[in-house]
Amino acid sequence: MQHTYIHEVVARDGLQIEPQFVPTEQKIELIDALSDTGLAKIEVTSFVSPKAVPNLRDAETVMANIKRKPSVKYVALIANLKGAERAIAARADEVNLVVSVSANVRRSTDASFEGFGEIMRELERTGIAVAGALSTAFGCPFEGGQSSGRVLQFVGRYVELGVRSVTLADTTGMGHPKQVLDLCSAVRERWPELELALHFHNTRGMGLANVLSGLAAGVQHYEACLGGLGGCPFAPGATGNICTEDLVHMLECMGYTTGVNLDKLLAVSKRLGEIVSHELPGQVAKAGKTTDLHPIPGGLH
Ligand code: COA
Ligand code: ZN
Repeated sequence: MQHTYIHEVVARDGLQIEPQFVPTEQKIELIDALSDTGLAKIEVTSFVSPKAVPNLRDAETVMANIKRKPSVKYVALIANLKGAERAIAARADEVNLVVSVSANVRRSTDASFEGFGEIMRELERTGIAVAGALSTAFGCPFEGGQSSGRVLQFVGRYVELGVRSVTLADTTGMGHPKQVLDLCSAVRERWPELELALHFHNTRGMGLANVLSGLAAGVQHYEACLGGLGGCPFAPGATGNICTEDLVHMLECMGYTTGVNLDKLLAVSKRLGEIVSHELPGQVAKAGKTTDLHPIPGGLH
């Protein structure tokens, strides 16, 4: 039996792309309910430009009003120094520093990394943990497939900066299982001490298959989004992340532990559907768990 760690990103990746602004108090309600499900990490919001991501313009208020549990790490996504300063003021437990391997965060990847040294120094002073994320690590809707050499180069730059956890994000669901196995194996071989996390979108139906490849490469940390919501507002055709309850269900069927109470998670997913007022892509919430047995109907053979 092996443990896997689930990082829930619905409050950031999920809500950032919703057509309607989700009211602040409902965001807080959602995060508080998630805190009670056994999740290891919850990405609460992002401290980015409110012009770029208006749905998360209430980041400070959300961070200030959630009820924190000591067992949960509350994470904020940032992309620049201003974001780091806001995350420090809001007392995030961890920041997820994100840069695109291609062009979707406007600045070039190299220019972003130049600013990261200063961000790391600021964060080190405060003791806030830093995870480094590489978005579009498996392909980009503007540039096509991503070279693994380029991804490895940027993982190396994070390692040089002193980052101990790196997330490879497949922002628009372009990665396939063989690519995931090859890239994750290469990262793990080169930096065995690095905590590697994966963030998949199910845009082309390969999300959970990619998780299997991650597991085969020994990766234990997975980001996922309640209900299967999610997507990057700057990427054409972006759709949902892998669905947290479907991921937890699959992992537990396979004998992995997650620490997550699936029934509680399904209840929060139901509430999420009410909050966003539309159907969610997640499948276990609709079909029930494989262990939910039904009475045998008379005519079934
Ligand atoms: N918090 C609040 N405002 C911010 C900010 C932050 N962290 N970073 C930049 N801004 C504001 C600036 O104050 C400026 O506002 P103004 O036009 O009123 O003067 C504006 O944004 C542009 O600032 P600039 O420093 O020129 O940034 P940029 O144009 O190089 O933008 C990013 C770069 C990354 C900061 C911006 O595009 C962004 O926040 N993008 C969101 C990225 C994201 O959320 N990715 C998640 C994965 S999909
Ligand atoms: Zn994403």
